Amino acid sequence: MNSAADEVMDLIFGRWRSQTLYAGTELGVFDHLDKVKGKHAETIALELNVDPALLYRLLRAQASLGLLLEDDTRGFVLTDKGYLLRGDHSQSLKPMARLEEGPQHYALWKHLPAMIRDGKPNAFVREFGRMAFDYALESHDYGERFKHAMSSYSAVQSTLVLEALRGYDFSGIRTICDVAGGHGHLMCAFLQAHPHLSGIVIDLPEVVKDQDELWAPKFGLQDRCRYVGGDMFEEVPTADTYSLKMILHDWNDGECVEILSNLRRAAPSGAQLFIVEHVVPGHDVAHFSKLFDIHMMCWGTGQERTEAQYVRLMETAGWKPAGSHYPGNRLIGVIAGVCA
Ligand SMILES: C[S@@+](CC[C@H](N)C(=O)[O-])C[C@H]1O[C@@H](n2cnc3c(N)ncnc32)[C@H](O)[C@@H]1O
Repeated sequence: MNSAADEVMDLIFGRWRSQTLYAGTELGVFDHLDKVKGKHAETIALELNVDPALLYRLLRAQASLGLLLEDDTRGFVLTDKGYLLRGDHSQSLKPMARLEEGPQHYALWKHLPAMIRDGKPNAFVREFGRMAFDYALESHDYGERFKHAMSSYSAVQSTLVLEALRGYDFSGIRTICDVAGGHGHLMCAFLQAHPHLSGIVIDLPEVVKDQDELWAPKFGLQDRCRYVGGDMFEEVPTADTYSLKMILHDWNDGECVEILSNLRRAAPSGAQLFIVEHVVPGHDVAHFSKLFDIHMMCWGTGQERTEAQYVRLMETAGWKPAGSHYPGNRLIGVIAGVCA
């Protein structure tokens, strides 16, 4: 077989891999294994109350994906990759897998050809009859998957944001407001890296009232971080810096300008803005943002954008562009602005 065919087959069967991984996270398989002591399918099956013969076949497939190692006695241990799928890993990717390959997001992708035929990016509405944020309020299962996945994304992205902004001068900033900041993972990263800062996290009231999920008390940062329940389309608190991580990609251009204009109204002169997104690079660069953009087409009215598109949105809302910052892997980008 030639390598082009190998590569295409690799793409065709990509979902088999992600579903094999996902089944392990859904069943809790990785949480019942460690990196040292080999365990057999029969033992794990008893602990999880699942079928041992079918579980063995799942573990064997996961070992073939490099998530586990199998020994001569059919015992399994976690590899470094598999360890990332335990729920108690500090940078656990388990919640991300449970959202992105879980039943709701899995169901969206089959609508892709029809959406493109019809020119309507609305897979979530086709499948569930309403938009994703509304559905998350009604479906406990989806709401839980979504909020935990956001913290899982943040565990990876907060580090990248700090890396991208490593040369940035924070000395003139006193209060930073993370708009639609979820449970505040990024905010805690800012507060830990810059001890002189205070933070405000605004998100929907039903998100910030979830006391057990908030990151600031977990990191001992509750005295420097205030949570506000509100609507970023209505009003945001006054701060001298605003961050928006993975927010504008949820919304269409008109909605983005509305959000950025609300920030602009609340911002004092000289206030700064950080837009954190998977920024789409040029046509000759393969990049995760180009795939994430398809997910956004399925999920809602948003999209991934180029740096030039973010700059245009910023300018339309009255912000002055102030450069861009990237971590070494360029997975995400930070587009900066200033309130002139
Ligand atoms: C894609 S998540 C990103 C969360 C967080 N910034 C992060 O990167 O982990 C989008 C967030 O927007 C919040 N959100 C949606 N509509 C909102 C609104 N009208 N006002 C404030 N927050 C909102 C959601 O509750 C959710 O936490």
